[in-house]
Amino acid sequence: MNKKGFIFDLDGVIVDTAKYHFLAWKELAKSLDIEFTEEENEQLKGVSRVRSLEKILAWGNKTISEELFNDLMGKKNEEYLSYISEMDENEILPDVPRVLNLLKVKQQPISLGSASKNARTILERVNLKSSFDAIVDGNDVSKAKPDPEVFLIAAKQINIKPEDCIVFEDSVAGVTAANTANMISIGIGSKAILGHANYVFKDFTEISDDFIASLIEN
Ligand code: G6P
Ligand code: MG
Repeated sequence: MNKKGFIFDLDGVIVDTAKYHFLAWKELAKSLDIEFTEEENEQLKGVSRVRSLEKILAWGNKTISEELFNDLMGKKNEEYLSYISEMDENEILPDVPRVLNLLKVKQQPISLGSASKNARTILERVNLKSSFDAIVDGNDVSKAKPDPEVFLIAAKQINIKPEDCIVFEDSVAGVTAANTANMISIGIGSKAILGHANYVFKDFTEISDDFIASLIEN
C-alpha cells in the first residue's frame, strides 16, 4: 500500500481552542487597558504565543519591559491552561475521529504539527494522543509558521518525504508553511481566507473517505 504522511495542525483543526485563547488574551489585554476584539483574535490563529502578545501590544500602542512581557506570557498561559484543563472528547471537531480512524486502517503515518506548547496536554485531555505516530509542537521548533520547520520535522519523524506529506491547516500562516515545505495543503475553513491552499473544506464532514483514498493513491 502507498504511504503518505498526514500532518494535522491542532488548534482549529482537531479542536476549537481559539475561544479559550480569546478569553485568556482578552483578560490580559483588559489588564493593560487594551481593547481586544474577536476580529483581532482571528488574526492570532496559528501565531506563536510571543508573537501574539507583540501584536496585541502593537494594536494597543503599548510598550512594556521585558520582565513584564515574560510575566504576562506566563499569566496568559496559566489562564489558558485553566480552560483547557476542562476539555474532553466532546470538544473534538466533527468527523476528525472518522478521518483519523480511516488513516489508521489504511496504515498511513500520522503526525501532529502545531505551534502550541500545550499540544500534548490538549491531546491527552481529548484522548487522542495515541492516534499520532509523532507529535511535533511549539516546544520542538525555533521558527514559527509560516516557516515550514514544524512540518519538515514532522515529516522526518514519520519518515516520509515532504512531497509525500499532506497537511491539514486552518491558518493562513500554516497553509503558507505547508506550501513552502512542498507538501499538499488542505485548508480547513473558508476559501476566502485560505485560497492559497491546494484544497479547502469547511470542516472534516466535507472530506469524504474517497477523497482521502485518492490522496493516498496519487
Ligand atoms: C496555535 C494557535 C495560536 C496560539 C499558538 C501557540 O497556533 O492557533 O492561537 O497562539 O498555537 O499556542 P500556545 O498554546 O503555545 O500558547
Ligand atoms: Mg490552527
